[in-house]
Amino acid sequence: MHNEWSQLKNELPELLEQSRKETIHGQVAEYIPELAHAPAQGLGITIADRQGNVIHAGDCSISFTLQSISKVFTLMLALMDNGEETVFTKVGKEPTGDDFNSMLKLELVEPGIPFNPLINAGAIAVSSMIKGKSPQEKAGRVLEFFHTLTGDASLTVNEKVYLSEKRTAHRNRSLAYFLKENQVLDEDTDVEEVLDVYFRHCSIETNCGHLAAMAVILANQGADPATGVQLIPKRYVQIAKTFMISCGMYNASGEFAIQAGIPAKSGVSGGILALVPGRYGIGVIGPALNSKGNSTAGVHLLESLSRSYGWSMF
Ligand code: DON
Repeated sequence: MHNEWSQLKNELPELLEQSRKETIHGQVAEYIPELAHAPAQGLGITIADRQGNVIHAGDCSISFTLQSISKVFTLMLALMDNGEETVFTKVGKEPTGDDFNSMLKLELVEPGIPFNPLINAGAIAVSSMIKGKSPQEKAGRVLEFFHTLTGDASLTVNEKVYLSEKRTAHRNRSLAYFLKENQVLDEDTDVEEVLDVYFRHCSIETNCGHLAAMAVILANQGADPATGVQLIPKRYVQIAKTFMISCGMYNASGEFAIQAGIPAKSGVSGGILALVPGRYGIGVIGPALNSKGNSTAGVHLLESLSRSYGWSMF
């Protein structure tokens, strides 16, 4: 086994404990009431390489919901369903500089399509492009996609989180109606049905091991490292990874690109999916968030790992 891997195995527990100290500077998300029960001092990481080796450190037994991490994958599924040209008539390719749930630019900037697929407005537009005869079928196809990528067919929606978000998602509802007004959602679209698909994919229950397993497929350009089977076309993985660099950590994406320099996507549950291209898939959970909505300790840990092991792509 290569040197860096053995070194990682030895050093990871200590690096993790250093980063855990950052949890005191963060707060667990409460705007979806059911998320507020997560352990604020928790921090766990799983790293998977392309040869099938896996290292866990810290609180990897924490389960949490995918939240915005799911947006990277619904984007790739929508691209597989519709092709690049169609998808990018409904959603842009640029960072916003605004909060992840902002609706400012939908009104301010013509043609009123969401700036990118990783902000809420963009992800709702993407959910509307998932193929299926009913919202159940669409949400079912998304869940199946996650079964394939994680290799875990028991993955399922956390009903409590799903209902909690559905009940309190006034802003997402406003965004979706705005998208209909702007013809991003067609005239005959049932907004509640689109939102249902979105709430369900955000509420899929997962853990660090799943995130690392999915990330190593992205690190391997969409091919399953174990079988070589191309699960996602290379081009769509390239698009997804580019969005992860430019928008994956919201308004802290530029800062994270400078400090860590690897593609990553965070969620308000405190999860981060990251990857070292060609080498590793990484899953992190640290429910305490900074003001930008990213895991405080998770960001600290990824940045210190990248610095120690020279992982930056830049
Ligand atoms: O729509 C929402 O607000 C959540 N389901 C997902 C947001 C999210 O994870 C933003 N991430 N930092």
